[in-house]
Amino acid sequence: MTEATQDILVHSEAGVTTITFNRVDKKNSITRDMYAAMADALDAAKANAGVRVVVFQGDIAIFSAGNDIGDFLQQPPATQDSPVFRFLRGIATFPKPVIASVCGPAVGIGTTMLFHCDLVYAGDNAAFSMPFVNLGLCPEAASSLLVPQMLGYHRAAEALLLGEPFMAEAALEVGLVNRVVPPTECNAYAQAQAKKLAAKPLSSLIETKRLMKGGQTAKVLEVMAEAFSAFMEKRKPDFSAV
Ligand code: COA
Repeated sequence: MTEATQDILVHSEAGVTTITFNRVDKKNSITRDMYAAMADALDAAKANAGVRVVVFQGDIAIFSAGNDIGDFLQQPPATQDSPVFRFLRGIATFPKPVIASVCGPAVGIGTTMLFHCDLVYAGDNAAFSMPFVNLGLCPEAASSLLVPQMLGYHRAAEALLLGEPFMAEAALEVGLVNRVVPPTECNAYAQAQAKKLAAKPLSSLIETKRLMKGGQTAKVLEVMAEAFSAFMEKRKPDFSAV
């Protein structure tokens, strides 16, 4: 059991579960307890037939600064069931639609989690970055697989090798984002889209998402599992068998 945290707010209403990063003083950087709270919220939303859509949102000025670096170094994930991996598996395999509303910086997992969402709406102040190489790390959340697929290889190389931020309009152009809106309207817009989805037949939504993902989900899980095994065994990941 992990401690409940106020740093993640979970609110369910009219078929929509909204998960809010609520740690603005630390730029919504994500601790172990926050990953656990989000994994639990996803499990509950999956099990509850009354929930049809999940929305992730942050603050108008910051989506998330990614992993809480101090917390990560103090309590690095130790097993495949550690909160960060429970969260990543949960979002990668979530059967119902997932929407993200992103304003301000989205760093590291703040960006890579979006590759597992179905719809992404961004404030025009959104800035996406995956600075793993700059930190001496490997890309996480199966992003080495998903980013080239979504952005195309050369744009992925720019995003992942240089690690420089790209803004909402560029994210719209490459297809990471569905629509760019003023930051003050972003959460409301995402909620309105969620409401539309929640009014549709749930089994059709689930089946359509499953068909669109095809065999990809199994591969995503294998890539994440291998990356994590390599991390724990302090060796380079070997994706050749995946
Ligand atoms: N982990 C832990 N604490 C973090 C953090 C992180 N990833 N990102 C920000 N914080 C904390 C800062 O330490 C600071 O805490 P303090 O007030 O106690 O000193 C507070 O949040 C404010 O951060 P600050 O850097 O002053 O805000 P900013 O507006 O100048 O910049 C960011 C915002 C997001 C651009 C910047 O904080 C950043 O780049 N953070 C690191 C992102 C990162 O490398 N993430 C890991 C990716 S794998």
